[in-house]
Amino acid sequence: MPARLGRINPRAGVAEGSADDYKRPMQQPTTLALDLADEAATAALAAALAGLAGPGDVIALRGPLGSGKTALARAFIRHLTAPDEEVPSPTFTLVQTYEAERAFIWHFDLYRLGDPAEAFELGIEEALTEGIVLMEWPERLGALLPPDRLDVTLAAGATETSRKVVLVGHGPWAGRIAEMSRRA
Ligand SMILES: Nc1ncnc2c1ncn2[C@@H]1O[C@H](COP(=O)(O)OP(=O)(O)OP(=O)(O)O)[C@@H](O)[C@H]1O
Ligand SMILES: [Mg+2]
Repeated sequence: MPARLGRINPRAGVAEGSADDYKRPMQQPTTLALDLADEAATAALAAALAGLAGPGDVIALRGPLGSGKTALARAFIRHLTAPDEEVPSPTFTLVQTYEAERAFIWHFDLYRLGDPAEAFELGIEEALTEGIVLMEWPERLGALLPPDRLDVTLAAGATETSRKVVLVGHGPWAGRIAEMSRRA
């Protein structure tokens, strides 16, 4: 009987974005761990992630110096712009932007950020609301780092050109990583 369904399913009749949002079950984060044999494998993963990204998405790139955060960001940006796009490391500028068809891409490297509040001067608000954000050293952002994001953690592999990567999708990225995991 349809009338009973409302009692069984607390989400019945709750419109998208309504004040009843808090009643929705939290989407659990999803994880996918991969071995990347060489830089081409890192670039292929970057292209796959770029294909899933849209305005408002945040990708936090984690891992030690030289682990491949910029290499991954470069391939991601080239996939959405042009294969020969110049993508320097934002080591000193802290941010570089790129105009892609579906959104501006904001590539941050916050290693040299003194205080999270300094990120406002870099345009972090506009980046997070309208852009596709790639962020190296996201821990420098402290509490300003959005909870809905994809965490990409790179680590050394068995050889000089191999890497281990762990993807953890939160919020809208949870379903995307689950789907990627099913295909992996
Ligand atoms: N599988 C791989 N994936 C990514 N980079 C690789 C791989 N194999 C070798 N490399 C090399 O490792 C280096 C990674 O440097 P990169 O600047 O991307 O590191 P980073 O994590 O951004 O460091 P930083 O914290 O200093 O910004 C590059 O020289 C790249 O060519
Ligand atoms: Mg870098």
